Amino acid sequence: MATSWFPGHMNKAMNALKEEVKKVDLTCEVLDARIPRSSANRLLEDLTREKPRLVLLNKKDMADPQLTQAWVQAFKARGIEALPVNAREEELASRITAMARSALKKEFARRKARGLANQEMRMLVFGIPNSGKSTLINKLAGRRGAQVGNKPGVTQSFQWIKASDSLLILDSPGIMMKRLNDEEALHLAYTGAIRDEVLEAQELGFQLIKDLQAYKPQALADRYGVDPEAETLVVMEAIARKQGALLRGGEIDYDRTGKLVLDDFRKLKLGRITLERPRGKKGAKNAGLDA
Ligand code: G4P
Repeated sequence: MATSWFPGHMNKAMNALKEEVKKVDLTCEVLDARIPRSSANRLLEDLTREKPRLVLLNKKDMADPQLTQAWVQAFKARGIEALPVNAREEELASRITAMARSALKKEFARRKARGLANQEMRMLVFGIPNSGKSTLINKLAGRRGAQVGNKPGVTQSFQWIKASDSLLILDSPGIMMKRLNDEEALHLAYTGAIRDEVLEAQELGFQLIKDLQAYKPQALADRYGVDPEAETLVVMEAIARKQGALLRGGEIDYDRTGKLVLDDFRKLKLGRITLERPRGKKGAKNAGLDA
């Protein structure tokens, strides 16, 4: 399916970003802990490759804790410090300031060698729409009630924000990568990063059930009392019957069933689920899984 998801304003933002990147010392990528691979923005990662990078695994309260730890280890193996966070609840300014300082040790040594006492850190924060970047920035800025919302793409421009005495943050527009493979498109749609209108609920719900059968079959048994071993369509129809998602005349309402499963996933009614695992033997071992 290879979905292209790159509206014009994001293209414009990308060009502006190339200029802004030159002004920062390090970057901080906000990922969705349920889908750390699909929520990564490789275009931006490439653009900022020369700068030290922090990763926040946001929405940790929605993700499987064991897999979140596996991801932390997988990032560590790549020399990147990743911190699981819940941007809705935690006060994060001091922790992120400390992480940034540690990531910039070399930069500070360089400044010192040049006789510069400047301890200021300028950090670009980026994340795809719905990663929770606005929520996080509001927390860091200590402001209440600034614009955050459930529609992807609310943040549209660059803005400097003072997070602490030494940490200045450059907020960036939520930018999606240019082309998505099938898995990325589905995972981003399940979590709400791609608007629901883009993919049909019945197809999306069907695919989510299929993924749950592979990753967390017990969640289907527990929530809906269905046999997760059956064929996906049979499972979907069983859910529809159990939940009364039927059309007049008793036929299955696939659209309503799809929406219902998606809604349950997004509202944590299926439990804390991470849909992606670190690749390779090491990642699997850290997750206590077979490679
Ligand atoms: P964005 O700027 O990256 O587009 O995302 P934004 O902050 O608007 O967050 C998207 C949704 O994710 C919001 O929910 C927000 O509250 C929620 N969110 C952000 N961080 C976390 C987290 O760590 N845990 C959980 N559980 N949710 C988080 P919403 O329903 O769209 O809006 P609202 O309920 O906040 O009004």
